[in-house]
Amino acid sequence: MAQCLRLPRETMGILIQIGFLAAAAFRVVNGQKGFVSIDCGMDAGGSITDNITGIVYQPDTQFIDTGINYEIPKSYLTPYSLPQLGTLRSFPDGVRNCYTINQVNQGEKYLIRAFFMYGNYDGQDSASIGSPLQFDLHLGVNYWRTLNITDPFSVNPVEIITVAKDDYFSVCLVKTGSGTPFISSLELRLIDSVDLYTDVNQSNSLVSAFARVNFGGGPGLIR
Ligand SMILES: *[C@@H]1O[C@H](CO)[C@@H](O)[C@H](O)[C@H]1NC(C)=O
Ligand SMILES: *[C@@H]1O[C@H](CO)[C@@H](O)[C@H](O)[C@H]1NC(C)=O
Ligand SMILES: *[C@@H]1O[C@H](CO)[C@@H](O)[C@H](O)[C@H]1NC(C)=O
Repeated sequence: MAQCLRLPRETMGILIQIGFLAAAAFRVVNGQKGFVSIDCGMDAGGSITDNITGIVYQPDTQFIDTGINYEIPKSYLTPYSLPQLGTLRSFPDGVRNCYTINQVNQGEKYLIRAFFMYGNYDGQDSASIGSPLQFDLHLGVNYWRTLNITDPFSVNPVEIITVAKDDYFSVCLVKTGSGTPFISSLELRLIDSVDLYTDVNQSNSLVSAFARVNFGGGPGLIR
């Protein structure tokens, strides 16, 4: 299950590459239409580059105005950790807190991906098998996924492929009574091909249920 993975950086890199499914259909270039890469909890004005993918992550300050920024203790990270996991935004106040990503093309297909790594950022040891950290994700008014985090080291990826019903996406973290919601990163990718994910339309979205783990190849790009 995607919920309880503890993946080394190499595997995560591959997972991301595979996550781009038919990478040729996606354009992994910054500043391009339909690409937004947000490192949640980063200070305003900052930026961080993933040197493997070349993706530059921007702070989340223009996408949300609630929540509190935290850094994960260094002891939870390795040189191979995804760079966007080092900070996160936490939402102790309010039941529902939403990111708004504007400049979306209504009617176009998008991949939305988020990562969640607890890293005991609050020093509360809130994520264990006996007492998981749980909260829900909504896309607009629609339920998307429940996060069930049982290990502070686990990297929890969540993806959805969906058709934009508006000219923005609203990604909401919703408290369900088992912990404080938080988010490490949020990415939006325009799927610029009518031939991909033909099952996805105005009424049907595709939510990843399992992690895309590569069992064969070495580190590096897989296409
Ligand atoms: C990426 O490379 C630059 C230049 O070598 C370096 O300053 C930066 O820290 C690297 N980023 C990460 C996340 O390792
Ligand atoms: C959360 O994950 C744990 C460990 O995988 C599992 O035992 C538990 O059933 C899960 N809870 C929910 C509500 O999915
Ligand atoms: C979306 O796709 C489903 C399954 O292919 C189909 O049943 C449904 O009618 C489609 N909806 C629209 C609005 O095209």
